[in-house]
Amino acid sequence: MNTSWAQLLNDIGACTSCRLCEKRTQPVPGEGRPDAALMFIGEGPGRDEDLQGRPFVGASGQLLDRMIHAIGMDRTDVYIANVVKCRPPLNRNPEPDEAAACLPFLRRQFVLVRPKVIVLLGKVACRYVLNDERPISLLRGSWVQKKNVWFMPTYHPSALLRDPSKKREAWEDFKAVRQKLKELSGDE
Ligand code: URA
Repeated sequence: MNTSWAQLLNDIGACTSCRLCEKRTQPVPGEGRPDAALMFIGEGPGRDEDLQGRPFVGASGQLLDRMIHAIGMDRTDVYIANVVKCRPPLNRNPEPDEAAACLPFLRRQFVLVRPKVIVLLGKVACRYVLNDERPISLLRGSWVQKKNVWFMPTYHPSALLRDPSKKREAWEDFKAVRQKLKELSGDE
């Protein structure tokens, strides 16, 4: 399979593999540093993302930006993607067949970026990336290592907007990510 960025963006733009293509304004492939050490994976585009073609640009994206800043980085230092590239109607969760149709794109992004650490934002990302159906409140805060990649499940920013009392735990998770990146770069 051709895994160049140009080919990948082209394939995502032309994709009609699932019903989500019918209602999208445009797909939202993802964005950021092409060789980022840190990658974020959300669920799928919302309304603002569907209109702009960029991930996490609405209210939850603004909170994500602030959290990325709080660990001393910004959007241009990381890569941000979603499980599905097209907006699910009314922001419902992606169905298993939709996620299955779209996951090959995420795998290709992973192959191109080669991140060392991946933050999984919310239950949907954990379900489809780790095949773990447990509640995010149980999964968050514990590292999962697979083939030399470190996964940190944490709350989705929209959950933090709904329930700000969860922000303290999310901040713990982000601090653990900052520490892990330091360790992995030998800069402890
Ligand atoms: N929520 C997500 O999971 N992804 C986005 O890109 C925006 C909101």
